[in-house]
Amino acid sequence: GKSFIGIIGLGVMGRNLALNILDHGFTVSGFDKDHSKVIALKEESKGMASSYDSVENFIHSLEKPKKILFFVPAGPIVDQVIEELLPFLESGDILIDGGNSFFRDTERRQKELKNRNIFFIGMGTSGGESGARHGPSLMVGGEKEAYEHLRTLLEAISAKVEGEPCVDYMGRGAAGHYVKMVHNGIEYGIMELIGECYDFAHRVLKLDEKKISDLFEQWSKEELASYLMEITVHILRKRDDKSNDLLLHKVLDVARQLGTGAWTSEEAFSLQVPAPIIDAAVTIRNLSSRVEERKAYGQHFKSGLVSEISEETFSSPFYEELKKALFLGIICTYAQGFSLLSEASKRYGYAIDMEKVAKVWRGGCIIRSQFLEKIRAAFQGNPQLSNLLLDPNIFSEIKEKNLLSSLRNFCLYAIKVGLPAYAFLSSLSYIDAFRSEKLPANLIQLQRDYFGSHTYERIDLEGTFHTIWE
Ligand code: 6PG
Repeated sequence: GKSFIGIIGLGVMGRNLALNILDHGFTVSGFDKDHSKVIALKEESKGMASSYDSVENFIHSLEKPKKILFFVPAGPIVDQVIEELLPFLESGDILIDGGNSFFRDTERRQKELKNRNIFFIGMGTSGGESGARHGPSLMVGGEKEAYEHLRTLLEAISAKVEGEPCVDYMGRGAAGHYVKMVHNGIEYGIMELIGECYDFAHRVLKLDEKKISDLFEQWSKEELASYLMEITVHILRKRDDKSNDLLLHKVLDVARQLGTGAWTSEEAFSLQVPAPIIDAAVTIRNLSSRVEERKAYGQHFKSGLVSEISEETFSSPFYEELKKALFLGIICTYAQGFSLLSEASKRYGYAIDMEKVAKVWRGGCIIRSQFLEKIRAAFQGNPQLSNLLLDPNIFSEIKEKNLLSSLRNFCLYAIKVGLPAYAFLSSLSYIDAFRSEKLPANLIQLQRDYFGSHTYERIDLEGTFHTIWE
């Protein structure tokens, strides 16, 4: 018989997803130009998956409407794959791009294919290899009608939290890829915060990795319970096979990136949504790669910390401060991501249901965490919530636990000793700016009016004003 779905690109993601699909009783065909991958899928699926290295045979193995999911690198390859498939496609067929494609590309592809009555679904897929194999988080965007053809399958293969599948229809157009892009922006932010927190614990508190991993392990059983904290505990304990030293100490401190974090920041700028923690995370990755400049600068200005803080300052309650600072930084990162999403949803007409976003992110994806339950509840309470920091429950949690003063303490010490903590400082400035009754933006307005006659508004009169300055 014919297969329910086809997968193009049998690399790590495609192959594992195919196996996951089979586990749930659906039939699947796979295609890859690389013959060894075709063989690998055949073997790993014990012959259950039909796999091909000819597009034509692959296409003919699919039931109608044809549903074809691709996991190929984002960019021009996606267009090439579409080109190759086109001659074999019919009205009503459904293409699903499971990669990290740029949402503008997805929009364009949707338009082009719509002319031929072919559905193009942008599906954000998170959770890496083990997610693909055992349950990813899936963010689907495009025509609702096409999603309905896929729903049963996607619900079966996705991660589950308390029985609920971590997949849903995110909205129209490129909403699925947009949500995934923002997921990755949040991922960058949280990773940078955890990195800076580790750096503080290691260099300022002078804790070794064993102690830090124990602390992190403890925290990941509390409010900070999350995938990224858990993997960090494992990473801090991992030994290098060769030397038996900590692997961490053997790894070059240059953070690479594929682009999704920077896209999130660029989008936040273009929609004028403040997202400084994500910006900071991208910036520091960029800075980390400037190896030569860092080396040169470190030689001119004594590298390392500029001062020490006496040990008694950091009695055990300070660990608590550290944890609370990290927690608030993470809350702010989610707040910035969600705030970007709600703006984009309005501006691009995606009609994203924010509660569903929180729901699909609770399991399977990289930024899954216990806190997402609270985010979900916040949007359940108020679907129009423009910023999570305004949710009454999140607000009182920050207040009751004194999170802001811990964040401020963390930043104070980091500044004092010269520890780079851009993401933490950005979190603090974000909150401090939001809670300021007055910002010096009035001064900026007058500067603009002074040199460019840009006019300003007044607090005591209606209308716009301009001053003759000379
Ligand atoms: C996920 C990840 C995944 C990938 C990132 C890495 O959700 O499973 O986000 O998509 O690992 O794209 O991004 P960088 O290479 O840019 O760090």
